[in-house]
Amino acid sequence: MPDFATPPISPFAIRFDAEAATLSPEGPTLERRMSDLEGLFADHDAWQAAVADGDPVVYRVQSSPVPEADRELPQSITTIERGTTAGECWMTKGHQHPNHQGEIYLALHGTGGLLMFDGDRVEWLDMTPGTIGYIPPGWAHRSVNVGDEPYSFLAVYPGGAGHDYGWVLEHGMGNRIHRTGDGFALRPYSA
Ligand code: 6PG
Ligand code: NI
Repeated sequence: MPDFATPPISPFAIRFDAEAATLSPEGPTLERRMSDLEGLFADHDAWQAAVADGDPVVYRVQSSPVPEADRELPQSITTIERGTTAGECWMTKGHQHPNHQGEIYLALHGTGGLLMFDGDRVEWLDMTPGTIGYIPPGWAHRSVNVGDEPYSFLAVYPGGAGHDYGWVLEHGMGNRIHRTGDGFALRPYSA
């Protein structure tokens, strides 16, 4: 199946390769380059310089063919490359699900973290292979690569949840994640 199937879909098996971080059959794959992350890194000049300097791929999202439709349960694997922009670890854009519903992430490879923000409280979960991170309804979520290799995780989410990226641009994510000499540190969002 080269693309999302049209609902109603029939039962089918999805081959999940945790080692290779792939789903088969494949649905659409999304590529997010540095230019797609406008307004998200604290240092705008460093972000702009990275866009001008080759506009690297920051992460990819490979989906299974289950459609993003109400009552369906799509899955995807996100792989975030290792990198920093003015010290800030490479990350996903982050979003809120407008139809507040829960979601789970299963870490597959590398070392990452799950940053969540409800507009008031901020939470951080260390994500290493085998960890399931639970995102409760109403919490914006962003994944961050804090390790030395690509970080991959499987996401399973309600197909009717929707994706609101404007919420994060408006409200932030509570913290920023910076690489330090011996690891990483959570800093205030404004820093
Ligand atoms: C989702 C999941 C997940 C997420 C990707 C990319 O709701 O679909 O949270 O698949 O979309 O990890 O992150 P962004 O959507 O924030 O770019
Ligand atoms: Ni989500």
